[in-house]
Amino acid sequence: MREELQRKVEQSYQRAEERASLYFQSLLERVQQKSYVSILINDFKAWKHDHIRYHSVISFFSKKQKKKVSGEYRSYIKWLDEAGKLDSYLDRSLSYIYMRDLGKSLDSPETKERVRKIVESLKEYLTQERKMKEEPFSMKGLYRWAQREKVETTVIWLIDKLKRVSKQLPEGMDAEHAQRKILKIIGGVLLHEIEEIENEQVIGELRVERLTQALKMGYAYGLTYPFIDDLLDSDVLSPSEKKQYSQLIRTTLTTGTVPALGKWTQETEPLMKYIHAELREAFEAIKKQQRSTTIDEFFEQSYVFFQSQEIDRNKDLNNRNYTNEDLFIPIILKSSSSRLIVRTVLGASLDEGFGQRTFYYGIYNQLADDFSDLFDDWKAGAVTPYTYYMKYHQERPDLVNPFELYWTVISYLIHDVYHSDAKTREVILDRAINSLKRFKERVGPSKYEEVMNLFSSPHQKFNRFIQKMAARADEVDFFDKLLRDQMIAALRAERQEQNEFQNAMEEMRTRLKDALVIPDYSITEEPIHEAVNYSLAGDGKRLRPIMAWFMAVKEYNLEEAAVMPLLKSLEYMHTASLIFDDLPAQDNAPLRRGRATLHEVYNVAIAELTGLFLTQKAITEQASLTQFDAKTVLKLIRYASEMTASMCNGQAMDLESKGKTLSLEQLHILSLHKTGLAFEASLVMPAILAQAGDEEVEALKKFASHAGIAFQIKDDLLDVEGELSLLGKRIGIDAANNNATFVSVLGVTEARKAMWEHYCLAMEALEKMPRDLSFLKHFMNYIVNRDY
Ligand code: IPE
Ligand code: IPE
Ligand code: MG
Ligand code: MG
Ligand code: MG
Repeated sequence: MREELQRKVEQSYQRAEERASLYFQSLLERVQQKSYVSILINDFKAWKHDHIRYHSVISFFSKKQKKKVSGEYRSYIKWLDEAGKLDSYLDRSLSYIYMRDLGKSLDSPETKERVRKIVESLKEYLTQERKMKEEPFSMKGLYRWAQREKVETTVIWLIDKLKRVSKQLPEGMDAEHAQRKILKIIGGVLLHEIEEIENEQVIGELRVERLTQALKMGYAYGLTYPFIDDLLDSDVLSPSEKKQYSQLIRTTLTTGTVPALGKWTQETEPLMKYIHAELREAFEAIKKQQRSTTIDEFFEQSYVFFQSQEIDRNKDLNNRNYTNEDLFIPIILKSSSSRLIVRTVLGASLDEGFGQRTFYYGIYNQLADDFSDLFDDWKAGAVTPYTYYMKYHQERPDLVNPFELYWTVISYLIHDVYHSDAKTREVILDRAINSLKRFKERVGPSKYEEVMNLFSSPHQKFNRFIQKMAARADEVDFFDKLLRDQMIAALRAERQEQNEFQNAMEEMRTRLKDALVIPDYSITEEPIHEAVNYSLAGDGKRLRPIMAWFMAVKEYNLEEAAVMPLLKSLEYMHTASLIFDDLPAQDNAPLRRGRATLHEVYNVAIAELTGLFLTQKAITEQASLTQFDAKTVLKLIRYASEMTASMCNGQAMDLESKGKTLSLEQLHILSLHKTGLAFEASLVMPAILAQAGDEEVEALKKFASHAGIAFQIKDDLLDVEGELSLLGKRIGIDAANNNATFVSVLGVTEARKAMWEHYCLAMEALEKMPRDLSFLKHFMNYIVNRDY
């Protein structure tokens, strides 16, 4: 069986290579005959009626206006809509995706109808006022989609997996890029499956099942990009380790089984262990998904993909002897097999038309990508047809000009693969012209001209014609490009904000640690004094004063020194609540903040007195908010005392519930009181000092209630699946005490769902907030992702 598989995949590689070679020969003939020049000029002549306008003064102005807004996602969509251009914009974008990603032929009536329907609903979706305000890429959006499709559990699983990927990847590999790549592959696989499901009108449980599988298969296949391709591209492994790793992958694909990991150096072993385990799981999952008819196709395409990537990766820009075949055939193979796999991982069969179109299409996409990455590849010393031509075109007149080949592929696709279909011509030419425009924008006019002179010199006439089109054509932009730009910009901004948020948190934590120490001002307080500082000195997260600091200082522009007593009082109240909570009469916990609990170190009496001491100390601090007017401070103290009283009630409910099954509603009330109110206070107390309006305070309360519950659910989850060394408290306390928690009432899976639900509700409350409090967004992300 093993040998048979090996023979099969090797033969299929040969077959694919022969096929690619024939394809390349026919392209080469066209390049030599220059037939593409007149064909494309004719195509462009038909095409340009809709894209080249002879500008009057008025349209000149409107063009300017368009330029101004084209960067902004929402306003650009709005502008398109108002200008009556949104339909054709979405139509060409979706048509393109149907052709590229789904391998469809655009002249089929079914495809036309599908595209029309999606354009209609997408347009409606994009132009809703409410949607205009939403972020296009967010965890909230993802989770809400998952809920609509009833695949929450799988999406939560996926979120966990992606988190682990970014945690495990070493410095030398871009974790964020890896996550994005995996998500993109999942998106592609999902697109195929949704298309099938919609065509077959699959509903109900079967639909859920198929989407679940598509998500899992997408992850399994997506994983191979960072874990195989990027890893072998990076410098994380030594050359001999790379060989060893390649061999491991090859053995997997030729035997159908993942071999044992083997020996690695101390440095790389932990990473390789993780990668090996994860890939094996993924591989087994894909194998299980296959029907007997598709398993061979999966192995064959995977092998072709891997093998052609290997050949390509091992090229050296200093080697002057590559033939045109050496340069182009691996590209034809890798670009088509990577797309064909998407269908095989789903266990779908590769129908004849899809297989054909995808095979011919690949190189077009690859040449377009390589063109736009030209300078990056050059810098990295990577061999692509462009970098190689750039380096050797003078001494090697036999080299095919990749840009000429690119246009040849375009004419071949339009006429030979897609039968001169008008729609296909339209979208491919739009895309080609758009690529040139984007490239020019990115590298600037002088570099652009340099590149153009190098690559299109033999055909001045064609070149001039293309440049004229690129300079004057309108309405050649695409929605997927806009989304991509938007996503990159959003992620970059998000990362920066997240970093700033984390740094601010860290810094504040350090400063608070000193500020919280209660000075040794009176001999009579000695016994408590030491105990109090023992409790305060542990590794607390200081979330409540940190939130209050963001609110007071960053949002309301209050002086940090002026609000310091408030920040301290919040942590004093909270620490007191923990001291009580840990007592034998309550949770009976031995560890807190990474050290023994207070009653263990001293005794219960001292612990009780210290708790009381701290709540009083909190009031002393609040009464020292001397920079604010007395009425405001009184209002604040009153609010704080009411909160503390309510928290006592929450804690009592919690203790009463031991051993009982609570309803979800009771659980909400309980955790809102014992935990949520402290979060509320951290936001509302600064608002009181800043004299914020009622509407704002109400909105803050709403946010805080969901944030607090999400926080408590995470706390309950960590009690079963956390790590003592990170958490600083003993795991399993809730179960030992028979406490009613989200986990005991709902079980782990449902508790996770509930946490994400409250995460979404908190985010939605944030969207409705009268002011922009983006730090709270990061705070929510922190809450659900934390390990301690
Ligand atoms: C623990 O609060 C009590 C709960 C509300 C679950 P924290 O998790 O904020 O505890 P510290 O302050 O970081 O120790
Ligand atoms: C405590 O809830 C709530 C308080 C604010 C005291 P838990 O009992 O779950 O908190 P931990 O897990 O001990 O920190
Ligand atoms: Mg408790
Ligand atoms: Mg406890
Ligand atoms: Mg707990």
